[in-house]
Amino acid sequence: MNHLISIADLSRQDIEGILDTRTAGIVPGGGSVALVFHEPSTRTRFSFTQAIHQVGLHPVDLNPGSSSEQKGETTIDTCRNLAWAGARALVLRTSLTGLPHKVAESVDIPVINAGDGTNEHPTQALGDALALRRHFGGIEGLTVAIVGDVFFSRVARSNAHLLTKLGASVRLVSPDAKDVPSNVPRSMSTSKLEEGLAGADVVMVLRWQDERHPSDRHHKAYYRIDEYALSAAPGHAVVMHPGPVNRDVEVTAEVIDGPRSLIRHQVSAGVEARTKLLRRLLSP
Ligand code: CP
Repeated sequence: MNHLISIADLSRQDIEGILDTRTAGIVPGGGSVALVFHEPSTRTRFSFTQAIHQVGLHPVDLNPGSSSEQKGETTIDTCRNLAWAGARALVLRTSLTGLPHKVAESVDIPVINAGDGTNEHPTQALGDALALRRHFGGIEGLTVAIVGDVFFSRVARSNAHLLTKLGASVRLVSPDAKDVPSNVPRSMSTSKLEEGLAGADVVMVLRWQDERHPSDRHHKAYYRIDEYALSAAPGHAVVMHPGPVNRDVEVTAEVIDGPRSLIRHQVSAGVEARTKLLRRLLSP
């Protein structure tokens, strides 16, 4: 594996190889990893920064507002220049679906997709898998309901691929359940929240992608996860959300901070997953 562009490209063995990589130890040779983020980020940017330090490399955060992209240089040419200048790897977040793939074809260093448009967010899914493995002891046999703005969510796509490849049953629960493309794996697609949550071990709530489409406030209220909605799921079910969370929009404050929330564990597992990935991609 030279790059991480999408979970859809990976086999179960590839995914387990990353998840089972140890986190301790440095990547030989030193040097820097470039962060090229064209969309806002807190968790992904900071956790990559932490992970890069952890493997003994230096993060260099390219601020798009002050890079030569402002003078008309393309993102691909910018990334080629970062590689020529000695970056060991590139971490790219973009609103353009497919751009990380094109960058990977244009440079001879590893490229990591930190979220491309509505396509994929593979490192989020890897972190979520670690959090689930830690909580349940494994992923095989789990039933995971992914709830909310499935159609526009790159987190939903990456998680649907990863969880299905690792033997979970994935339900897509969304207002546009019928329209979600058939290449997003699922065992069930429904617009009915109660039906989607019945028997689910995990309720994975998504942020409404308001920057990508105008979403309907009635939909938002119907799919909000509060204690009452959660009562449709078994008592052992846990709640996840990739962030950023809009409190009381997708999920209530009571649930976010309650005993069934895995959200803080998702964030710490995200650092761990990115550390493992860097070691996997950059170690000889
Ligand atoms: N989950 C996630 O990608 O969060 P950020 O946008 O804060 O990185």
